[in-house]
Amino acid sequence: MKGIVLAGGSGTRLHPLTVAFSKQLLPLYDKPMIYYPLSTLMLGGVREFLIISTPADLPLFRKLLGTGAELGLRISYAEQQRPAGIAEAFRIGADFVGSDPVSLILGDNIFHSPQLPGLLARGMADADGCTLFGHTVADPRPYGVVEKDAEGRLVGIEEKPAHPRSSEIVTGLYVYSPDVVELAHQIRPSARGELEITDVNRHYLAQGRARLHSLGPDSTWLDAGTYDGLLDAAAFVRSEQRRGIRIACPEEIAFRMGYIDADALYRLGSRRQNSGYGRYLMDISRGAVEAGVGA
Ligand code: DAU
Repeated sequence: MKGIVLAGGSGTRLHPLTVAFSKQLLPLYDKPMIYYPLSTLMLGGVREFLIISTPADLPLFRKLLGTGAELGLRISYAEQQRPAGIAEAFRIGADFVGSDPVSLILGDNIFHSPQLPGLLARGMADADGCTLFGHTVADPRPYGVVEKDAEGRLVGIEEKPAHPRSSEIVTGLYVYSPDVVELAHQIRPSARGELEITDVNRHYLAQGRARLHSLGPDSTWLDAGTYDGLLDAAAFVRSEQRRGIRIACPEEIAFRMGYIDADALYRLGSRRQNSGYGRYLMDISRGAVEAGVGA
C-alpha cells in the first residue's frame, strides 16, 4: 500500500510562524505536525510513503523521518518546486505510484477516528476511482463542500463555495486507483493557477467512480493550517493524552501493526528517554514484554 503525504505549500495563513519553518514541522503539543498524517496512513496499513515538500524544507523532513526502516516503513522524498496545487502530487509522484492504489493525505489534516483505519484499508483494497472522507463542520466555506441527493449519494463537490449546499466537507484524505496519475496530467490549472484536487475528484464523480464515507460524530477532524486550527489541534491532543489516549505515535503504531518488535520499540524510546514521549514508548514495550506480547 502506498501513501503520499503532501507537506509543502507556502503556509501564508500562518505567517509569521511559517516564514522560516515548514508548517508541517510545527509542534502539535508533543510532536511535529507531520507525525499525525503519517500515523493516519500507517493505521490504514500504508508502509510505503512519499513525502512531498518544498526544496528548502525537504532536508528537515529527511532529518526527522529518515528512510523509515527503523519503523518497518519505506519513506522516500520528492520536491515540489512551487505550490502549484494538491493534484500536482500525482505528477511529482507518478513513478512512486506506478500501478498501485494510492492514498494522499494533506500534511496539516489531523484525524482521530475509530472508523478510519478500517475504511482506509477497505478503500485501498477495492480502490476504483476515488474514496473521499467527509466531515461536518460549522463553516464549510473554506473547504471542498459535498452535495448529496435524497438517498445520501454524492452528487457534487464545490471548492470554497460562497453559498455552500451542505455543511459536509471533503477532508484532506483521499484514496485513488493508479489511473489518478493520468488524470492529474489531464487536468488544467484553475483560475487561481493550481491543479485542484477537487477537479480530479469531480472527474471520478462524473464517471460514477467516486465514493464518500462520512466520518461520524465520534470522529475528530481538524485543519491545523490556521492559528485557531493549530491551537485547537494541540488542545485536543493534550486533552486526549490526559485521559490516557496517545494519538499519532508512529513508533507505537509500527509496533502494534507488527512491523517492529518490543525490543526495537524500547530502543527507539530510550533514544528519547529524557522526554515523556520516549518514556511512553519504553513503557509500552515493557508492558508488552510483561504480557508476553510482540517480543
Ligand atoms: O483541508 C481540506 C481541504 O484541503 C479540502 O476540503 C479542499 O477541498 C482542498 O482543496 C484543500 O483546501 P485548502 O484550502 O486547505 O488547501 P491548501 O491550498 O491550503 O493546501 C492544503 C495543504 O496542502 C497545505 O498544508 C499545503 C499543502 N500544499 C498545498 C498546495 C496547493 C502543498 O504541499 N502543495 C501545494 O501546491
